[in-house]
Amino acid sequence: MSNSLKLTNVSKSFGEAKIIKNLNLDIKKNERHAIIGPNGAGKSTLFHLISGHYKLTSGKITLNGDVINNLEPHQINRKGLARSFQVTNIFPKMSVYENIRCGILWSLDFKYSIIKLVNKNKELNKKTNVILQEVNLQHCAHLPAGLLSYADQRALEIGITIAGGADTLMLDEPTAGMSNSETERAVNLIKQISENRTLVVVEHDMGVVFDLADRISVLVYGEIIATDTPNNIRKNKAVQAAYLGTEEH
Ligand SMILES: Nc1ncnc2c1ncn2[C@@H]1O[C@H](COP(=O)(O)OP(=O)(O)O)[C@@H](O)[C@H]1O
Ligand SMILES: [Mg+2]
Repeated sequence: MSNSLKLTNVSKSFGEAKIIKNLNLDIKKNERHAIIGPNGAGKSTLFHLISGHYKLTSGKITLNGDVINNLEPHQINRKGLARSFQVTNIFPKMSVYENIRCGILWSLDFKYSIIKLVNKNKELNKKTNVILQEVNLQHCAHLPAGLLSYADQRALEIGITIAGGADTLMLDEPTAGMSNSETERAVNLIKQISENRTLVVVEHDMGVVFDLADRISVLVYGEIIATDTPNNIRKNKAVQAAYLGTEEH
């Protein structure tokens, strides 16, 4: 199986502080890969590096074989990588439908989107409806997004994330702040949308991680101390000592 993302000797410092240290990581095409680790380990920083929101101090990142660490976030997005942020990121006054349609338009070259796609309304509507169906929000397509439940807003956010046609998705704590039943629904949705996509997810809820991930990487103080299947990670003594044994969340 080929790689979707490959990180080679990636480092990031903020001033004197080395936050990510010579990190190597291969994420295979269509795998579900979870990144876990204590607070402050550098998980969100790693996401910002991959998505282009932070520049590397040194190292290399490739997406589907192309070097991306010299690109801007929107260029990386157009190469097929989409991410959500730790906070819900929707337009509350626009309808659910319009939020998804915006996600599609953003992913395109702006001139192209204005001149061609808005005129070709049929194609745009069709795409929007496919995404609405994927995230199970057809029933509330015309409600203002701000009226949805918290869980549905997060589902909408995932819809916006995949609307641009990305084949690699990065979700930062997608079940944060959810009840048990909301978490279960979110996990099912994430499983569904990652059927034929690569998923990289940061998540604190170990139940979610072990249920969702094909492989798990454990990040501790900017270093990956293990990458393995959920079963092997559970049994890994170094992981237990560094993290799972002292789980606070
Ligand atoms: N923009 C920044 N400037 C300075 N320090 C930062 C910045 N972003 C993150 N850090 C530091 O990097 C460390 C890792 O943070 P973060 O990546 O948010 O960890 P995690 O997501 O694993 O909890 C923390 O010590 C944090 O203070
Ligand atoms: Mg974080």
